[in-house]
Amino acid sequence: MAKKPWDGVFETATDSRVEEFTESISYDRRLYVHDIRASIAHAQMLAKAGLLTADECQQIEQGLLAIRQQIEQGQFEYSTSREDIHMHIEAALVERLGDVGRKLHTARSRNDQVSTDLRLWVLASGDELDRLLVDLQKAFVGRAEQDRDVILPAYTHTQRAQPVLAAHYWLAYCEKLERDRQRWADCRKRVNTLTLGTAAVAGTTLPIDRNETARLLGFERIAANSLDASSDRDFAVEFAFVCALIAEHLSTWAEEWILWSTYEFGFLKLPQAFCTGSSIMPQKVNPDVLEIVRGKTARVIGNLQSLLVLIKGLPLAYNRDLQEDKEPLFDTFDTVAACLAIAAPLVAGAELRREAIAARLEHGYLDATTLMEHLILRGVPQRTAHGIVGELVRKAMHAGVPLAELPLADFEQASPQLDKSVYDVLGSQSAVAAFKSYGSTSPAQVAEQIRSWQKKLEQV
Ligand code: ARG
Repeated sequence: MAKKPWDGVFETATDSRVEEFTESISYDRRLYVHDIRASIAHAQMLAKAGLLTADECQQIEQGLLAIRQQIEQGQFEYSTSREDIHMHIEAALVERLGDVGRKLHTARSRNDQVSTDLRLWVLASGDELDRLLVDLQKAFVGRAEQDRDVILPAYTHTQRAQPVLAAHYWLAYCEKLERDRQRWADCRKRVNTLTLGTAAVAGTTLPIDRNETARLLGFERIAANSLDASSDRDFAVEFAFVCALIAEHLSTWAEEWILWSTYEFGFLKLPQAFCTGSSIMPQKVNPDVLEIVRGKTARVIGNLQSLLVLIKGLPLAYNRDLQEDKEPLFDTFDTVAACLAIAAPLVAGAELRREAIAARLEHGYLDATTLMEHLILRGVPQRTAHGIVGELVRKAMHAGVPLAELPLADFEQASPQLDKSVYDVLGSQSAVAAFKSYGSTSPAQVAEQIRSWQKKLEQV
């Protein structure tokens, strides 16, 4: 039975069932790099403050680095009796250094330690997601360049609405992912706060220098209230939210591409290496990767919910409930990182079925709104123009033809403002070319947007 750091006051040993129940080492071991990094900074600060000698500090530093190596080489022994990663590393240090190792926990508690480790982990993890977001943006911009002449129907209510450039679709995802990056950058500012040195709950009577620890660890600021610092998990919730929106965006994309790759839509050919087959139906090529991306959104949203409920009604300051923050947080990152990593090559490897798309592009009266605006430009009030075009569409539907195939007489009869120039705005190609407003699918603007994304992403 391992000795506990709190043995002094206890008359009985911990029940092994309690050890099993309360342990977190099975999942918080992944914090080891951050725990060791924070401990080294803490020891250096203690030495500067005169609470450790330079020699003690050096022994601690070397001891911790050796422990890190042991962990990385798979030679470190874990035991539920040592509860969590913090106690494991400290105990291993004491085993190596004896009394010198016993000094490391001066002016800190596991409460500020775990908060610091977790913040360091979130900083590294968020930065990793940021890189993956950029990779996916690059894949979409690559598609935009490659598909720049393809026109697709845009949908509202999943009904054909107006024609747009395929590139306009791809850049729409770049915008969403850009907001995800901005959200992380903003969240990062608050994560980037040093809580170490707030100790258990009230701070310490010892002459520590928290600014020095912050400097050593690269934190931008230090938490100003020890009660707040040890209870605060806002940063974890915010990160989970940033991740949940990324998952939502991926889920929209996955859903769209699942539809587009159906026989019924026939817009998209997914790379076969990213599809799987059926064990019974020999003809099937299924979009399982996309379905799993869409499906994984559920757990990411669930994890956010778990974290929100976890902190609900917790009195200040540290409560052991907070140990439950790690699994949802780790799972969120692992899940979103995996989805982003698989999305980029899938986006790059898919192909638009250009002929199938073109063959049906004049179905669905995608040019009706452009025709209405053509009338508005000739002075017809919008409501009137809407009615005129509605009747023309009805006529064309009855005849089973697109608007562009109605005879001139029908247009002339519909409105005195219509003459043979009407054919210039009809058809998806002309309709797309007619767009002008900023942010529209106007070809000149989309080309400009592609250029500006390329430039922006080159610099990341
Ligand atoms: N394993 C704990 C956690 O993850 C560390 C902090 C424990 N603190 C305590 N006073 N028991 O939250």
